[in-house]
Amino acid sequence: MESTRSRLAQRLAEAGQSHLVQFWDELTPEQQAEMTSDLEAMDFQEINKFFRSAMEVSRSSKQEKMDARMEPVPREVLGSVTRDRDCIKDWEEKGLRCISQSRVAVLLLAGGQGTRLGVSYPKGMYDVGLPSHKTLFHIQAERILRLQQLAEQRHGAKCYIPWYIMTSGRTMESTKTFFSRHSYFGLCKDNVIFFQQGMLPAMDYNGKIILESKNKLAMAPDGNGGLYRALGTQGIVEDMDRRGVKFIHVYCVDNILVKVADPAFVGFCVQKGGDCGAKVVEKTNPTEAVGVVCKVDGRYQVVEYSEITLATAEKRSADGRLMFNAGNVANHFFTLAFLRDIVQMFEPQLQHHVAQKKISYVDTQGRLIKPDKPNGIKMEKFVFDIFQFAKAFVVYEVLREDEFSALKNADSQDGKDTPTTVKHALMSLHHRWVLNAAGHFIDENGTRVPAIPSLKDGTDLPIKCEISPLVSYGGEGLEELVSGREFRPTLVIDESGAHELVKNGL
Ligand code: UTP
Repeated sequence: MESTRSRLAQRLAEAGQSHLVQFWDELTPEQQAEMTSDLEAMDFQEINKFFRSAMEVSRSSKQEKMDARMEPVPREVLGSVTRDRDCIKDWEEKGLRCISQSRVAVLLLAGGQGTRLGVSYPKGMYDVGLPSHKTLFHIQAERILRLQQLAEQRHGAKCYIPWYIMTSGRTMESTKTFFSRHSYFGLCKDNVIFFQQGMLPAMDYNGKIILESKNKLAMAPDGNGGLYRALGTQGIVEDMDRRGVKFIHVYCVDNILVKVADPAFVGFCVQKGGDCGAKVVEKTNPTEAVGVVCKVDGRYQVVEYSEITLATAEKRSADGRLMFNAGNVANHFFTLAFLRDIVQMFEPQLQHHVAQKKISYVDTQGRLIKPDKPNGIKMEKFVFDIFQFAKAFVVYEVLREDEFSALKNADSQDGKDTPTTVKHALMSLHHRWVLNAAGHFIDENGTRVPAIPSLKDGTDLPIKCEISPLVSYGGEGLEELVSGREFRPTLVIDESGAHELVKNGL
């Protein structure tokens, strides 16, 4: 025991992190044992190296704007749901064929802490207040089920879409328990694969690891780009290989509209021979704080709004659109071969980004301090950091109102990306699906509601309408249920048909 301690003390001293055991004598034997095992598991030299290079990159990127090195995505690698309407059927067909051969997997990034939303449980377990009260995980699971069914119907072969779910040390147990309690939402348990990303300590600006209590380090997941290290350490690439997976759709848990394993996106990327692809939405407002996909020094990457000047953000092409308008929505396509190269060769080259945060800590007297301004950093890799290694990068542009609405913040007046805004985005999409399938809505007096509802009582609440993903993945199959019929909201369409909810608590 004594030798373990002295070895540890020496390692800490060598790494300049001896302050971590400053409260050692005040800890109970159990706390000491737990802390010893936490500290033993850490590679301090590596952590210090990450800190130095992350700070270096952060300093140099602050000094230099990207503008002069940027080029927009060329048209040849771009597919667009609005500009290439004639091709969509083919792409969809191709994607569905790949799905029917069980060659497509989905991979969910769900290791975030959801600090802005402010709930203590994983974001995927959040109920945004739909009539069905389905959670984000539930909605995504049902989309997978429906897509498997569509592929099977089209190609007459049983297939499955494995669902890889990346969690972190903080979200793993609750996520797994949630899925098990809900019987995997009807999916086969063997095809839902959980794995865990790494964690890194938060550091102060001098590279000292922060203690969140006398016996605990302040730890945080290593960013959604922690994916690539985790794919290697957790044997996920081998698992994909064993299952015959060839193509992977990676997405974030918080997008309520996400088209998991979107056949058109997958089909487009496969048809184009892409090894790495990004789904984007058109950025229309120059000052919108969204990262844009573009080329920098000839290689693809996402450039954040803060990295360019306003003049560049405002530049327009001949067609009047913003020149840098490929807004990143964290929806990616990878071939397994590409992911394997990343894991085996390129991952160590990815640099951590620095996120300045307010990090609670204990001071030298052992008092808990909650700072009111940033006092340290968390180090994160980003999922899109690997675009630079693509040999054939492709971009697929979709409509924001159909495919992207992210849950980031708690509800507040006029809030952006809140439970209310994502719920409205989903109901508005489903409303349009009903109209497109020749269904109609009527108000309490039996009068038809215009297709574009007018502002009523100063509000612009959408028509309350929810369609189960088990009935429709992307608006298909609704005609027989709604065509020529009139509905009084709230309308719910599920496996048992279309129902008006008499009482709605929305
Ligand atoms: P965000 O960067 O929006 O973070 O993650 P978050 O955890 O959801 O929320 P805040 O910033 O703490 O409020 C975008 C996506 O990346 C995943 C999240 O789960 C979400 O799907 N993510 C983020 C990870 O999987 N791991 C991480 O370390 C960070």
